[in-house]
Order: sequence, then structure tokens, then C-alpha cells
Amino acid sequence: MRVIKSVLQMQKISLKHLKDGDEIGLVPTMGALHKGHASLLSKSEKDDDVTIVSIFVNPIQFGPNEDYLKYPRSVKQDLEICRKNHVDYVFMPSVEDMFSQGHKTFAEVKVMQDILCGPFRPVHFRGVVTLVSKLFNISYADRAYFGMKDFQQLKIVERMAKDLNFRTKIVPCPTVRERSGLALSSRNTYLSDDEKNVSLNISKALKEVQQDFKTKNLNFIKKNILNKLKKIPNSKIDYAEVVSFNDLSIADKNTKKVVFAVAVWIGKTRLIDNIVMTRRGEK
Ligand code: PAJ
Repeated sequence: MRVIKSVLQMQKISLKHLKDGDEIGLVPTMGALHKGHASLLSKSEKDDDVTIVSIFVNPIQFGPNEDYLKYPRSVKQDLEICRKNHVDYVFMPSVEDMFSQGHKTFAEVKVMQDILCGPFRPVHFRGVVTLVSKLFNISYADRAYFGMKDFQQLKIVERMAKDLNFRTKIVPCPTVRERSGLALSSRNTYLSDDEKNVSLNISKALKEVQQDFKTKNLNFIKKNILNKLKKIPNSKIDYAEVVSFNDLSIADKNTKKVVFAVAVWIGKTRLIDNIVMTRRGEK
């Protein structure tokens, strides 16, 4: 496993692999790796000849009042996890190298960036999409792996890759959860034991409304999930929404495959989670 810090060097190495006919897998991360990330690494290990993991806390996807500075950083542990998962290259550029002085170019995915997390994190998806498109150009990846835990991000990146004709295929990966149901997230490290206990109610609420989907209308489902979330102590709901799996538009009674997506603050920690639902008979 090699740790590469220079953008130019990473690009040269990737290009060499491309020319040699290797299939390249990219797993973009912000580090503080956990079993959710590891599931992406192991998928790439299976599918690709070469796996590149990027570890980069991307400043342009954090708003001014967000947690960029305190975002968990655990490089030593991360490298250990990468090694265990047979990663070939860990790409860890500096902010200065990624965003050289005078950087002025940004990519946006209109409409899809304006719902769910969008209104609460106005610069977020623009920052993600810009960074991810740079990573695609640096890695020449055949495949890039994204978790369904960040469902809006996954769909936005899929759209961007299609719209901008990237050669990279986006591979969605299922959400990895603790046995309790809590979706793994680097931000879970912010939670106290008490907060972690109450956080379980988010995935529990999502699972419970899953039953309603077969028989009840969407307004009922939305109200039901809001009621369940409101009961979580020390919480504040940013949104609880039912959207179309395909394009994140607001779902209606004819939408066959939907995603229930929620964002909830537990104390000072913002958690997101979702569940995908398909009407009977649909795939
Ligand atoms: P990060 O939060 O580190 O997540 C990196 C990748 O791991 C994302 O694709 C995310 O969806 C996936 N992931 C996180 N938790 C997961 C879980 N419990 N199960 C399955 N996959 C999970 O998402 C980002 O970083 C950044 O926005 C990034 C795409 C790297 C751009 O900076």
C-alpha cells in the first residue's frame, strides 16, 4: 500500500494503470473510517484490479458554521483499516494542492441539490460535486463506490457523472448499521452514550413506517414518522421527506420506488438516515 500526497503524482500513477489495462476503483472518503467505509473498500477489492482510497476532509463542502475544524481525523487508524482491506493507494492531498490559489471552478447539480439537506446546507453539494469530479479526473476510475447512507449525495453524483460524461461508473453500496440499527457515521463519535441511545430511535422510526407503505398514503406516513421523531429526547428535526428513488423529486401515490429520508439533530450532532421502499410487484 502506498500513501500518495501529491495530486500530480496520483494522476500519473492512475494514468499508468489505465494504460496498462487495469480496472481502477475509487473510494472517496473524508477519513475517520469505520465499517461502512470498509464495506466500500472490500467491494472495490472484489471488482477492481487497483483500489484508490481518497482521504480528504473537503473544506468547500462545509458551511461557515459547520464542523470542518472539529471533523474527526484519525490517520493512523485509517491507514490500518486501508491496509487490512488491501487498498493499493491511499490518496491524501493537502488542501493547498487540491484547491490551488485562484481556484474558481465549481460544479453543481441543479434541483437535486436544492431539496432534503440542500436548504440546510447551502454550499454542501456544490462542494461535494466539485471535489468528486476532481477525484474522477485524478484517478481515471472505472468505478467509484458511494454509500446509500448518503442517498442524496449518491444520486447527485450519479447525475453529475452522467451529465459530464465521466468514464467512471457509480456503484451504490448498502448502508452498514450497528446491530442496534444505528447507521454508522464518522459523526457518531460526537455522540455521548446517552445521545447514542436515543439516536437508535431514528432507524427504528424508519423501520416502523416501512410497514405503513403497503397500506397508507404518503401524507399519513410522513406525519407518522414526524410524530415518532418528535418524541426523541433532545432532538430537532431538519426534515422527514418521502422522495422518488430515481431522481429525488417529491414522491406521490404513483411513485413506485421511494426513499424515506430524514435529518435529525441529536444535541449538537446532525444525523441523516434513510430507507428505500418499493411497492409490491415493482423492482
Ligand atoms: P464520508 O462521510 O467519509 O463517506 C465516504 C463514503 O462512505 C460515502 O460514499 C458514504 O456514503 C459512505 N458511507 C458512510 N457511512 C456509511 C455506512 N454506514 N454504510 C455504507 N456507506 C457509508 O461522504 C463523504 O465522506 C464525502 O462527502 C465525500 C463523498 C468523500 C466527498 O468529500
